[in-house]
Amino acid sequence: MRVAIASDHAGFRLKEALKPALAELDVTVEDLGCYDEQSVDYPDYALKVARGVAAGTYDRGILICGTGLGMCITANKVRGVRAVTAHDTFSARMSRLHNDANVLTMGERVIGPGLAAEVVRVWLDTEFEGGRHQRRVDKIRDAETGAGGIIEAHPLPHEGRC
Ligand code: RB5
Repeated sequence: MRVAIASDHAGFRLKEALKPALAELDVTVEDLGCYDEQSVDYPDYALKVARGVAAGTYDRGILICGTGLGMCITANKVRGVRAVTAHDTFSARMSRLHNDANVLTMGERVIGPGLAAEVVRVWLDTEFEGGRHQRRVDKIRDAETGAGGIIEAHPLPHEGRC
């Protein structure tokens, strides 16, 4: 699996702290910056990673800023990217199982390096479940092109609340 990672200045230290944990996983990691704590603009780094994932250069992307939020907002502007902010392993796992998230964002001002490494490990290790979730992800994709219609009150009795 090819993984791109990037941060702004506020996420730089957490990005660096995650590298040893990533090195223990069966992934190839490319660091797209930033490379020090000089102030930079997070959208520049979010777009580098998101466009690389959308183009297929990378399978997944990881973005770190102060909160994870600006990176997530920006990455989701790129067609084909499903970015999520997750600071717990349950959300990280569900974002893969149900949403097929391809970009993970976190905030250095929110989470410590130990838990962040575990969140990343779970997120990279979890496969998309497909099935009924594929239909929903397809609707997200259609929404990007304006092709999607809204089906009101779509009955799914056989699926319960899943
Ligand atoms: C930088 O101060 C901070 O705004 C940025 O890292 C990020 O948290 C934005 O969402």
